[in-house]
Amino acid sequence: METIAVLTSGGDAPGMNAAIRAVVRTAGYHRLSVLGVMRGFHGLIHDEFIELNPRSVADIIHRGGTILKSARSEEFRTTEGQAKAVENLRRAGVEGLVVIGGDGSFRGAMRLQEAGINIVGIPATIDNDIPCTDFSIGFDTTVNTVVEVINKIRDTATSHERIYVVEVMGRHSGYIAMYAGLAGGAETVLIPEVDDSLDEVCERLISGYRLGKAHSIVLVAEGVGGNFKAGRSLNESSAFHVADYVREKTGFETRVTVLGHIQRGGNPTANDRILASRLGARAVEMLMEGRGGCMVGVVHTEIKATPLEEVFKQEKALDLGFHQLAHILASQ
Ligand code: F6P
Repeated sequence: METIAVLTSGGDAPGMNAAIRAVVRTAGYHRLSVLGVMRGFHGLIHDEFIELNPRSVADIIHRGGTILKSARSEEFRTTEGQAKAVENLRRAGVEGLVVIGGDGSFRGAMRLQEAGINIVGIPATIDNDIPCTDFSIGFDTTVNTVVEVINKIRDTATSHERIYVVEVMGRHSGYIAMYAGLAGGAETVLIPEVDDSLDEVCERLISGYRLGKAHSIVLVAEGVGGNFKAGRSLNESSAFHVADYVREKTGFETRVTVLGHIQRGGNPTANDRILASRLGARAVEMLMEGRGGCMVGVVHTEIKATPLEEVFKQEKALDLGFHQLAHILASQ
């Protein structure tokens, strides 16, 4: 094998750059050429290849975002789009492709594997919702960003003795809310995986007030929206709904903070950089061994490869013990 390519796809995640660096430099170490594909699958279809060498990835290990840019490509869902991508990869002499992204990106990549281009996926999404890996790149940084915000909100929440409802990302997953809630000492964590009753939330807040708590933080994952939005405007975020309900039911003053895309930016933590470096290096080795159609992940601290078909069959399980622990510790 002489040439491989690398792309980033889907929502960006801090640490993607560290993964690109690891792919390019591991390939350089083994004397392989690397092409970068700009804008994910869109760039594959539109022939947006750039040459990458160990110097082109200097000074990016600490940067959020992705130097290769990212996109969600509708065109790649079509058979014509996929055929064009395969044709461009073949013409560029690419024998293996590293796809850094979420499981939607890996599903797209499977079409290329079926057409004979070896693919290795690297899980990168702040949501941490990809099965067969304990963590995906970007998650740790996001949790730290959210915890930092919670620390700041605590200051004003205590001064004014209010309830703060903070909405975090996680379209279908409560991972960010659950980890940040436990690390940030939130009084209540609402996640899509648990059908919590808002009346119970109110009772918890009232009991905290009776215990002398000067404020409360309620962390809501955006994915909870579906559970709460029945009969309400779809533009309304889950956090506003929760805050209104709590105010009406308890009489406490509430405020809402929706964190949005600040959660996707920022310098990756050391954990994310290390994970990205390990996965990037292993992805290149897998391609050199001729093993495609796989995702590399971390399972109990070991790097493990799993066939993509297996990844697609599974659901990422959430350890609800974390959720319970956050509530137990905050209820005293
Ligand atoms: O990458 C995952 C994610 O950050 C989700 O948590 C969020 O719902 C979504 O992406 C937002 O996507 P976009 O940036 O396309 O609005």
